[in-house]
Amino acid sequence: MIEIIPMNEENYTLAAAIEAECFSDRPWTIEQFFDELTLDFSRTFVAYSGSHAAGFVNMWLTPPMAVINNIAVRENFRRQKIASSLIEKALSECGECSSLTLEVRASNAPAIALYEKFGFSKVGERKNFYESPRENAFIMTKFMKKGGEV
Ligand SMILES: CC(C)(COP(=O)(O)OP(=O)(O)OC[C@H]1O[C@@H](n2cnc3c(N)ncnc32)[C@H](O)[C@@H]1OP(=O)(O)O)[C@@H](O)C(=O)NCCC(=O)NCCS
Repeated sequence: MIEIIPMNEENYTLAAAIEAECFSDRPWTIEQFFDELTLDFSRTFVAYSGSHAAGFVNMWLTPPMAVINNIAVRENFRRQKIASSLIEKALSECGECSSLTLEVRASNAPAIALYEKFGFSKVGERKNFYESPRENAFIMTKFMKKGGEV
């Protein structure tokens, strides 16, 4: 059973721990996760599998566009549709936004497959966007009617 809840002052350190586990390139710090709680355009959701914090998504809503800054699922909890549930939640938050955009490492086949499944497509590329290791980013966008509809 997967439950998605807004990040709060009780669980933001868990989201930061998942970030540190999953990303090698300048992972956001605990302080950055706390700061996200104070930004009115920011939304972060934590996915629980039973009592375990298993993943999170962070997004910014800046109509008419929205961006996903980060999404990650702990290794032991992958391939259980947790990221899918987080993307569905992010889409349901889009409100007035008509596009949802993110960046992804060009070699990150699992994430690209996930995004394509949800109707994101490649709209651009940033050269050497990532470090550790250095790599290009694909920019992927899903265009929507208002409210996250396809
Ligand atoms: C990418 C990531 C978030 C996917 O999380 P997840 O919870 O395992 O994804 P889901 O179970 O919801 O997968 C949904 C679909 O995505 C695709 N997918 C996910 N992982 C995949 C993999 N390892 N290989 C191929 N396709 C994959 C599949 O189409 C999958 O559907 P299926 O299981 O029916 O085949 C997870 O692997 C992760 O956290 N990776 C490290 C952090 C990261 O790269 N984040 C993205 C940054 S842009």
